[in-house]
Amino acid sequence: MALRKCPDGNGDTMSLFEWDGRLVVSNNSMKHWHQVSAMASRDDDVLLCGYPKSGLHWLWEIVTMLKTGSPHLSSRRMENTGFLMISSCAQLDSLPCPRVLTTHHRFHDLPLDFILRRRKMVCILRDPKDVCVSSYHMNSSLKHTEYDGTFQGFIPLFLAGHVPLGSWFGWILSFERGLKEHPELSVHVIHYEHLKADPAGEIKRLAKYLDAPESLAEEVARQTEFSAMKTFKNSLDNSFAVYYKSNTDSIFRKGEAHQWKQYFTPEQAEQFDAQLAKHLGRSSVVAKL
Ligand code: A3P
Repeated sequence: MALRKCPDGNGDTMSLFEWDGRLVVSNNSMKHWHQVSAMASRDDDVLLCGYPKSGLHWLWEIVTMLKTGSPHLSSRRMENTGFLMISSCAQLDSLPCPRVLTTHHRFHDLPLDFILRRRKMVCILRDPKDVCVSSYHMNSSLKHTEYDGTFQGFIPLFLAGHVPLGSWFGWILSFERGLKEHPELSVHVIHYEHLKADPAGEIKRLAKYLDAPESLAEEVARQTEFSAMKTFKNSLDNSFAVYYKSNTDSIFRKGEAHQWKQYFTPEQAEQFDAQLAKHLGRSSVVAKL
């Protein structure tokens, strides 16, 4: 894996690794990938997909509660419980049914067996300006990235896709193309902003898709409310804290929608939206954001 120093708009650099054409944070992260991409799925697996910082941890907690029928926060971390980016096949095999698996990969990198066997899949989308803000905080707090730039400098880096897992635009296009190529799949799409605005309603829709009891929705929404979840999750032992400059995990940061308004100037927002229109002008995803 080759080290890449990606310069931002001000010349500050982010250190990433290039693995088979994809940018990743650590040279360790994809070591099981070739095996995992050929993994076998199980009948009752659910695969959750999201571009980094779109709310995958939140979704994992919700779907785990719905699939197990138990509306209690897990004392485990998503990353240790079926996260395809770092798990080995042996670790994935050892998980009990029903497995709730997670990935940040693009559609065309998903394990093929999930597509061929039409497994249940949920995809979470978030306003890319909020993803950009969240990604800035994440990447400047990680030790590996060695990144100390400003948010203003970070915007062009994000737009160019020189961030972990590459371009947000590329990710969305990959899913749109994949779903067009596979009309036989029924993938449930959920928007971070809709989940924030009406958690119980969105969780009910999700429960219906998963054939889980809709009656759990109110309690699942209560349990996964941001501040309750953040307090509980941060109280657990956390082996991932060592990866952060402050030695504190910053996955659960603000948990808000439309935060970008406090970060972007009107001109920056306009430039960002122009890029959005250029890359995804005809995309049905953009119309719904
Ligand atoms: P912010 O950095 O904007 O706070 P991912 O899980 O895909 O890495 O996404 C992380 C983002 O989801 C972070 O956004 C995090 O705070 C937010 N998040 C995590 N749990 C949440 C919850 N229960 N409710 C709302 N947002 C949540």
